[in-house]
Amino acid sequence: MSAEFPYVRPRRLRQSPAMRRLVAETRLHPAELILPLFVREGVSEPVPVSSMPGVVQHTRDTLRKAVVEAAEAGLGGVMLFGVPAVQDATGSEGTNPDGILQRAIRDVVSEVGDSLVVMSDLCLDEYTDHGHCGVLAADGSVDNDATLERYAEMARVQADAGVHLVGPSGMMDGQIAVVRRALDESGHQDTGILAYTAKYASAFYGPFREAVGSSLKGDRKSYQQDPANAREALRELEQDLAEGADLVMVKPAMAYLDILRQVADASPVPVSAYQVSGEYAMVEAAAANGWIDRERMIIETLTSLRRAGAEQILTYWAVEAAGMLEQR
Ligand code: PBG
Repeated sequence: MSAEFPYVRPRRLRQSPAMRRLVAETRLHPAELILPLFVREGVSEPVPVSSMPGVVQHTRDTLRKAVVEAAEAGLGGVMLFGVPAVQDATGSEGTNPDGILQRAIRDVVSEVGDSLVVMSDLCLDEYTDHGHCGVLAADGSVDNDATLERYAEMARVQADAGVHLVGPSGMMDGQIAVVRRALDESGHQDTGILAYTAKYASAFYGPFREAVGSSLKGDRKSYQQDPANAREALRELEQDLAEGADLVMVKPAMAYLDILRQVADASPVPVSAYQVSGEYAMVEAAAANGWIDRERMIIETLTSLRRAGAEQILTYWAVEAAGMLEQR
């Protein structure tokens, strides 16, 4: 018998919902979804992020409610971003033990720390008045090694606040080693690192800049990766693993599925993908115009990331998607 039509009919396995469910290779589960959350200092009401309909900058109170909701939805974790009232050249609020992010970590860990993994962004861009992810040298360039000292201090204060995983996202060379050493030397051997390993200089971060009140003028091309390049993602992976990354991440997600696949094939540690603000905004905007089926789009994009090799997905739709998965 030859393996050809009319004997071979792939449509047999697509003929009914039950058949399709039986043979689905990729399944989504709420436990692998991570919800990014913004908490803003000095506000008494949540502030909507206009470029991300449905997303807000939380007060400390509403953040507590949001993480309870996330835990009840069965999510795997939350990733916290702080929006300070004051920015300066070195991002001082990022290392203030009483800074907004550190307070929020304490709140969240005491509220839901047993039921989901609490993560925090470890980067200076939310805290600097120039908006770069590091401190600047006299000539205006981003000073790698001086920035690493700031990251070490951030790692200590975030771990002191009780965070489970820190997420260094600044793409400085050597950042994972420095953060690992700072954690170990301050008695935080069990605090893990979710490394932003392959992070591209991307226009998809546009709406996020509003979400964190970033003052950036210019771009991050001297430290984030060039969208034209795949090979250096594997070099970054090798380096982050050698420096002690516990999980690695690819970001943005949908325009970088090839990178995700390559990293997933090469990585001995779990691989995450970050479906970023611009990916969210595009779908929300098209849906608001009635041009696409919003819910199908959400599930399809998440499924494609999972299929390409992501084991955890950071997505602003995490809670809603978890609800949709339950109904299927
Ligand atoms: C840096 C950081 C950024 C995002 C997460 N961490 C912005 C940037 O690198 O410019 C973007 C996330 C998103 O767009 O949803 N702290």
